[in-house]
Amino acid sequence: MIKILILEPDEHLKELLKANLNSEFGAEVLCCQTLNQAKATLENEADIDCVLLRGSLGAEDLAISVLNFMLYKKLPIKTLVMGEIDFEEDFVRMLPEKIQIKDLLDEIIKELNISDQKLAAITIPDYVGFKLHYFFQINSFSADIFILIKKKHKDQYVKRILANDNFDKNLLLKYKQSGLEELYVAKEYRHQFWDALISENINRLKEVFKNSNDFPEEYIIELSNDTYNLSQDLLNSIGLNEQTVKMTQASIKAMTGIVKSMDKMGPLLKKLLSNEGSYAYKKCHLISMFSVDVLKKLDWFPSDKFDESLNIMVFVSFMHDIVLIKEDLIKIHSKIDLYRSLASDKEKELIKNHANIVATLVGKYPRAPGGADNVIKQHHGTTNGIGFSEVYNSNLSKYTIVLIVIEAFVIRILDFNSSEDSLKSIISHFYEEFTQPSYKKVLDALVSTILGDAKKL
Ligand SMILES: [Fe+2]
Repeated sequence: MIKILILEPDEHLKELLKANLNSEFGAEVLCCQTLNQAKATLENEADIDCVLLRGSLGAEDLAISVLNFMLYKKLPIKTLVMGEIDFEEDFVRMLPEKIQIKDLLDEIIKELNISDQKLAAITIPDYVGFKLHYFFQINSFSADIFILIKKKHKDQYVKRILANDNFDKNLLLKYKQSGLEELYVAKEYRHQFWDALISENINRLKEVFKNSNDFPEEYIIELSNDTYNLSQDLLNSIGLNEQTVKMTQASIKAMTGIVKSMDKMGPLLKKLLSNEGSYAYKKCHLISMFSVDVLKKLDWFPSDKFDESLNIMVFVSFMHDIVLIKEDLIKIHSKIDLYRSLASDKEKELIKNHANIVATLVGKYPRAPGGADNVIKQHHGTTNGIGFSEVYNSNLSKYTIVLIVIEAFVIRILDFNSSEDSLKSIISHFYEEFTQPSYKKVLDALVSTILGDAKKL
């Protein structure tokens, strides 16, 4: 993804530039309005591809100060200045003060040497697809909805639902039955579509948790699954922003509420396993659910700070594999799984680095529970978040050890095959596996939780 830093003091121009760069290139746009903001961004953000500065409208001195700072810090990032300023360096090029957006985009393409092939890959198409199931979660949308008809020479987008018309759920069901996976909106409305989805889901969550006794557990699980999957899609398609953080925070809060309020684990577990929800969601929910009792049984965490400990566990359960969207990728847990996997080289790189990638993301997440990034980084047993450890390391954070043991058990539960497996055989397998005292201690707490609930399973 192209990363562009804009220093544009005019709010309106800044928004216009940001929207265009984002919708044309899918660029990550960092905006600054003061010298200090620009300095901090240049120092803290790695891999900025291009800087856009306003060199007119009274911002000339500001532009020169930023460029001097870049020189001083030896950061010769390609810079385009809109307007003429008195500054000559190879990495800086002046553009007309009143350049048209279209021409500015062409200048960026030229400056960054983006080939036609690469441009085709990064340019956002005119219509953006959204998974069909999202259209069941909202009732209408403020722009037209299209279906894609694949043609030999040029794909065709055909309008099927008019702006602001109520969605016909029967029509959506027919699409689903016919195997249609996505509906499309024109690219300029794609953020509005995410916004509509987010606000609808947050409203549903609020409604359910205001009157949770009025809703059956199946509905609560379905809603929780929807909001987990939406958070995952949001974080992976548009990254961290105010809206995505709002959505993930609401989903995590909801999941914490569900697992805390549950007095009987058995019936909920049964419903969860038979639910159609995603594998990733089930794994996250089950880890959170077992954490409640395991944390209570361990003497590692202060009992008067139980809520804080649980918040960490739910947060890390929710986030630790969030960048692995495909189910077969989440199911890779070891070097040998990775070696045998049919995943592409790019996917294999993502799997190898996912703990580190998510830990970095969480490092930027506002008000993440303290230490959560470290737990996530270590969740495959390595301290740098890269690869899979082949031994169980006792020098990891206590929360990480809890996560590793519970996750291993949850994965076995999700793969449970009643003709081959029994709870007893699974438990004895894990006693052979987790021989280190700290891991065994978590396993003891987990086993006593499970056996306490076994009759209800
Ligand atoms: Fe993982």
